[in-house]
Amino acid sequence: MSRVPLIAGNWKMNGLVADGTALAAGVAAKRKGQPDLACDVLICPPAPLLAAVIAAVAGSGVAVGGQDCHAKVSGAHTGDTSPALLKDLGCSYVILGHSERRGDHGETDAQVKAKAACAHGAGLIAIVCIGETLAQRDDGQTIAVNKSQLRGSLPEGANAANTVIAYEPVWAIGTGRVATPEQAQEVHAAIRAELVELIGETEADKMRILYGGSMKPENAAQLIALPDVDGGLIGGAALKVEDFWAIARNCG
Ligand code: 13P
Repeated sequence: MSRVPLIAGNWKMNGLVADGTALAAGVAAKRKGQPDLACDVLICPPAPLLAAVIAAVAGSGVAVGGQDCHAKVSGAHTGDTSPALLKDLGCSYVILGHSERRGDHGETDAQVKAKAACAHGAGLIAIVCIGETLAQRDDGQTIAVNKSQLRGSLPEGANAANTVIAYEPVWAIGTGRVATPEQAQEVHAAIRAELVELIGETEADKMRILYGGSMKPENAAQLIALPDVDGGLIGGAALKVEDFWAIARNCG
């Protein structure tokens, strides 16, 4: 099964209007300059920058996504963003259940699942994030934790067209400590095996599983080349056009 890799930049809470727009325009220019690149390219800016970023990448083939959404279509939820609005703005993806949201906001698997279901209803592709802490890894719980988060976070109707999984070991996020290729492949293969149980072999085989956690130009090639790694969810290195593009270029 050949899966089209996805190179996704998660800008997190970084950027103001001018530099965020310039970063988006820079990525769009790279994408236009390399039309044969064999991967999908996505950037996920902070919500208030979405409109400016969507305008900056228009016509380039670069997709734009949110970093979170609410589990309801609309209503009295101050400060939240509906998936319908993300879609209406021009987003095609939304990151859900990132460990920073699970940590900062106490998001549970059940909440991630409800958000993903609502995102699907709005026509968005949900990037569902899972990953173990260092304590869980040291305790030999890595596979069990990831399987359990996956099982708890995937909504009914999840398939390869509407869902991407991101494996982000919490100990590798923003630390400069990247998973070894062996560690990454072991977990990605276990995630795919669990997907077979959850959504069947055909969809599991087609579903993209991204690696995230200190992915940089120096280590991206060997990670992206792994059989069950279908691209990356990139934080720090997505904030510089040259670094982000050096990673994307590994997809051929
Ligand atoms: P870093 O690439 O900065 O480690 O962040 C990874 C991440 O959390 C992407 O969602």
